Amino acid sequence: MDQKEIIEGLKPICLCKGIKKKVFLKHLAAGIHTLEGLRKATGAGSGSCGGKRCTPRILDLIKETAEKWKAT
Ligand code: FES
Repeated sequence: MDQKEIIEGLKPICLCKGIKKKVFLKHLAAGIHTLEGLRKATGAGSGSCGGKRCTPRILDLIKETAEKWKAT
């Protein structure tokens, strides 16, 4: 893992719960590929905004991950 990946992993995805991108990537790598699965595994979406801010980011991560797998 290079420095860029480490910095990228520290980006917040769920601001209400303070959950960083690396946490989602870990669960995606473990085989959790649905919004509900990731929300349940991380607690994202249960903050004061009810997931309004993080849900689009989580969906983008799922899409990005799927595209990376298709490319390999
Ligand atoms: S940002 Fe995730 S619940 Fe508000």
